[in-house]
Amino acid sequence: MKRLEDMNIKGKRVIIRCDYNVPIENGIIKDDTRIVKSLKTINYCIENASKVVILSHLGRIKSPEDLKNNSLKVVCDRLSELLNKEVKFITYEDDVNKEVNDNSLVMLENVRYFDLDNKKESNEDPELSKYFASFGDIFINEGFGVSHRECSSLTGISKILPSCNGFLVCEEVDNLSKLLNGYERPYTVCMGGKKVSDKIELIDSLIDKCDYMLISGLMVYTFLAAKGYKTGKAFTEEESYDYCISLLEKYPEKIVLIKDAYVRNNGKQYRLINEIDDNDECLDIGPETIELFKSYLEKSKTIFINGPVGLFEDSEYEYGSKSLCEILKNLDSKIYAGGGETTYMFNKYGVNNAFKSTGGGATLTFLSSGTLIGIIK
Ligand code: 3PG
Repeated sequence: MKRLEDMNIKGKRVIIRCDYNVPIENGIIKDDTRIVKSLKTINYCIENASKVVILSHLGRIKSPEDLKNNSLKVVCDRLSELLNKEVKFITYEDDVNKEVNDNSLVMLENVRYFDLDNKKESNEDPELSKYFASFGDIFINEGFGVSHRECSSLTGISKILPSCNGFLVCEEVDNLSKLLNGYERPYTVCMGGKKVSDKIELIDSLIDKCDYMLISGLMVYTFLAAKGYKTGKAFTEEESYDYCISLLEKYPEKIVLIKDAYVRNNGKQYRLINEIDDNDECLDIGPETIELFKSYLEKSKTIFINGPVGLFEDSEYEYGSKSLCEILKNLDSKIYAGGGETTYMFNKYGVNNAFKSTGGGATLTFLSSGTLIGIIK
C-alpha cells in the first residue's frame, strides 16, 4: 500500500479524492464522520503542497432532477468550518480551470454530475479522468468508502498521476486487515442485515477465520426457515436455504442462531423461536438470545459486528441492539463495526471503544476479498 507520508508532495499540486457521500436531510448533514476523518490528510496537504483540489461524489445522479439535491455545497461549507479556512467551492458553471489556478484550496462540485453524460464518472471515462488529472501533479485516494468502485475521479486519475493513499484509507486498511490476519482469538463475528445472499462472500471469507459466527437481524429467519421453523411474516430467501443448511452442517459448533424474539402481532409479543406464529412480524431478539450472545462475546478477544440485531430505529424493538451495545461497551476486546447501520447503532448507544469503518459496500468487499480496486499499491 502506498502511503501519503512516503510521497514527496512538497510544493506540488495535489488532488484528494474523498468520500463525502454523507447523509443529508433538508440541507442538514446528519453525520459528518467522513468529513471529520479526512481532515488529517487535508491539513497535511495544506501544510506541504502548493495546491489542494478536493473531489467527491454525493448520492447517485440519474436524471437532471437529482442535481439540485446532491450538491456538495453544504459539505464544502462544513469542511471550511472544520478546517477553519475557506475552501473555494467550484461549480461546473464556473470557469473551472481558472478557479483551480487562482485558488490554493478548492472543492469541485459532485463528480457524479458527469454521470448525466453517459455515466462518464461511474464508468471511468478516460477523457474525464484526464480532465480531473489535469488539476494536479499527485493524486491521493482518501475515499475509502468508494474504493470498491472503478470511476474517473479515483481509479481513472490513479492511472495517470503518481498516486498514494491518504491517512484515512491507510487507517481503514490497517484496521480491517486485522479481521483477516493476525487477529487475537477467540474471534467472534456477529452477522445481521436482511439478505443472506448479499453476505455469502463475506460469510465465506470469515467463517474459517472466526471461532464463532452469531447470526441475527432479519437474515437469521432464512436460516431458521431452512431448518423448518415457522418464521411468520419475516423476509426469507428460499434460494439461500441450501447454502444455510450446508453452513449449519459444516460448522455446527461455530454458527449460533437466535433462541427467542420480540414480534409484532397486535402489539409487541415475546416468542421462543419454536412458538413463532404465521402472523408474527419478527422485529427483535429476546433476552435468552442476548444471554447466549453475551457468553460468546465475553470470551472473545476480537469482535466484528456487521448489522444490527433488530429494528432499533423503533424504540419498541431496540431491546436487542441496545443490550448488545451495553455488553460491547464493557469489553476490553478489539471491536470493529462494519457498515453504516452498525456505526449508527454504535453511535446511538455510545459504543466508543470500537473501530468504526467509514465504508459500507467497500468494507464488506474488503473483508470478502482482502483488497479493493481503488487502493493504491
Ligand atoms: C457509500 O456511501 O457506500 C459510498 O460512497 C459508495 O456509494 P455508491 O454505492 O453510491 O457508489
